[in-house]
Amino acid sequence: MQRRLNLLLLSVLLPGLVLASLLTYRVERRQVREDLFSEGGFLLDMLHATRVYTDTEVRPLLKGDGYEGEAVFHAPEVPSYASRRVLELMLQQTKNNEDEDGRWTGYSVHEAVLSPMRAENLATHWEAEIIYEFQSPSPPPEIRGSRVVAKHDVVYLARPIVVPDGGSCVDCHGARDAAPPAMLASYPGASAFDWEAGAVVGADVVIIPLSQARDDVRHSVALLVISLVSIFALLFLVLNAVVVRQLARPLRTTLLTTERLSLGQGPPELLDESDTAEFGRLNAAINRLVRSLNRSIELAGRTVGQDEPD
Ligand code: HEC
Repeated sequence: MQRRLNLLLLSVLLPGLVLASLLTYRVERRQVREDLFSEGGFLLDMLHATRVYTDTEVRPLLKGDGYEGEAVFHAPEVPSYASRRVLELMLQQTKNNEDEDGRWTGYSVHEAVLSPMRAENLATHWEAEIIYEFQSPSPPPEIRGSRVVAKHDVVYLARPIVVPDGGSCVDCHGARDAAPPAMLASYPGASAFDWEAGAVVGADVVIIPLSQARDDVRHSVALLVISLVSIFALLFLVLNAVVVRQLARPLRTTLLTTERLSLGQGPPELLDESDTAEFGRLNAAINRLVRSLNRSIELAGRTVGQDEPD
């Protein structure tokens, strides 16, 4: 009985455990990826906001000073330089800050264009594919996906870089001849020119490593498995103890004694009636049966004795 119960329990609990682990793995995996994309979206929002801030609030001040076109070029007045530096400082700062637990560890942000001002911003092959998609007639607002970058599994989120109407972008990204000579001197290989308002010139891309997120998912699933196995083991022990003490043992005693009685072996050992509720009553019923059977046999014996002729 005990073995059958254990087999039954295992056949229910084991598939339950596997199913629960698989489901949790899938749900956690999806949730963790969503979290990564939302973190990435936050960085891209900052990147964009810093560019807009520099373009609309910093550059007009410099222009008002009659600064433009001067022989000296200051990179901090460049919207893209400002956004790049802000993010670099931010990623650097959280890396140094141990309390942050490396929130941005492994993240990288790229302002990818097909012909850049700064050589490092040249779009890679797969980033170029994304830019072409943003340049298509019905572009998506953003593109997300996963791939292997520098032998690491990553997810990425990309949004288009659009030259805004009325922005100062064309001051430097318009015709090459009209660009500030001091800037050209600082970026001799520059080719980010002839931009027009409304054009999609590139993509902001954030790349996020999957390793940490994978560890988190594994950790959650392991925790769930350990908890479930502990609960199941406890259930197993308690059920086994209950079955052995309350069912198997009393049933065996009742069975053995009843068997001996039925075979007429030895003196009738009356069954223990002080047992647990059901077995006590069953034993009492069998005892009554045995007693009345004995009495009937006795009576029958006596009657037979009386009827015998002398
Ligand atoms: C004062 C000149 C200047 C202005 C104005 C300017 N840029 Fe640039 N842009 C640059 C320079 C210089 C770089 C390289 C920055 C660096 O070193 O990170 C650059 C880089 C970029 C990049 C990164 C890709 C690349 O070519 O290296 C993007 C995207 C960009 N600019 C977009 C814009 C947009 C959009 C505007 C208008 C809102 C704008 N820029 C206004 C000079 C300018």
